[in-house]
Amino acid sequence: MQSSRQPQHAPPRSPIRGPALPIGVAVTAIGVLLSIVPASATDARVESAMPEPGRVLSVPGIEFDAIPVVDPCSEQPVIDAIAAGDDAATVAAFGGGESFRQAVIAGNAPCIALDDPSRVWVVVNKTRPLDPIDFAPASLTPAPLQTTTQSGQVRTDVAAAVGEMAEAAADAGVGQIGVNNGYRSYDLQVRTYATHVRNKGQAGADAASARAGHSEHQTGLALDLVACAPCGAIESFGATPQGAWVAEHAWEYGFIVRYESGETAISGYMPEPWHVRYIGRELAAAYHSGGFHTLEEFFGLPAAPDYPH
Ligand code: DAL
Ligand code: ZN
Repeated sequence: MQSSRQPQHAPPRSPIRGPALPIGVAVTAIGVLLSIVPASATDARVESAMPEPGRVLSVPGIEFDAIPVVDPCSEQPVIDAIAAGDDAATVAAFGGGESFRQAVIAGNAPCIALDDPSRVWVVVNKTRPLDPIDFAPASLTPAPLQTTTQSGQVRTDVAAAVGEMAEAAADAGVGQIGVNNGYRSYDLQVRTYATHVRNKGQAGADAASARAGHSEHQTGLALDLVACAPCGAIESFGATPQGAWVAEHAWEYGFIVRYESGETAISGYMPEPWHVRYIGRELAAAYHSGGFHTLEEFFGLPAAPDYPH
């Protein structure tokens, strides 16, 4: 279903480590054009150069690479994919993960809401609570892996992806991967966070556990992995062959390691090499090839080290 949410207006931010791609740069291209053409002499030329959607920008006497000017959200494949609730098809209809990212950060994707918890591109952090706060995914299924808790369910697309990833890891000879927690409801997150507060105080808890309504686990898109068998603790995962393999290959299956070492000031959490977040293969490939380390940077969003209150 198409989201009725308000569009995101991410602050435009230069791609940090990613290459420039066509969709989403049309507005920028017009800005550059205006800045390089003397206004006094060229108002008419510039006006005549303002493109219709889908037309190629051109100015007589000025040569530059042809930039297809498009409004992705008015393209039928995008409209159809969003209406079908097909996240992978939506990203593909934008022209792939990097084009999708560029369109979002350029403000050229009003049909994409980064706060829609039913989409693989949702960004949840200490400043971006789930909306609604007690959101629950439409459908959940058990992850097809050994599980060490009663909370091993994830979204159906995530279950398929993590199953493939674990199979590839086993084929690569690094051993078995299991699941500790997948989906955690709002109520379970209340209890999980409270346990952390009891054990380490509020500051310690906030560095390790999301407050209810602020956890990716509530979207059904996140999993805490363990190395099996016998299955170890989540805290041991990063130092295992499985953990090393996941850090290198998770993107190939649509996952990112969400809380990397050295990124606490942006992500808000201490490193969690066991916590993988599904964003789909196209976006994960763009995340990997762009050298990104946080979802906030990937989508040009502000750092989220703390809760607002
Ligand atoms: N441990 C992560 C931050 C969570 O609670 O969602
Ligand atoms: Zn987690």
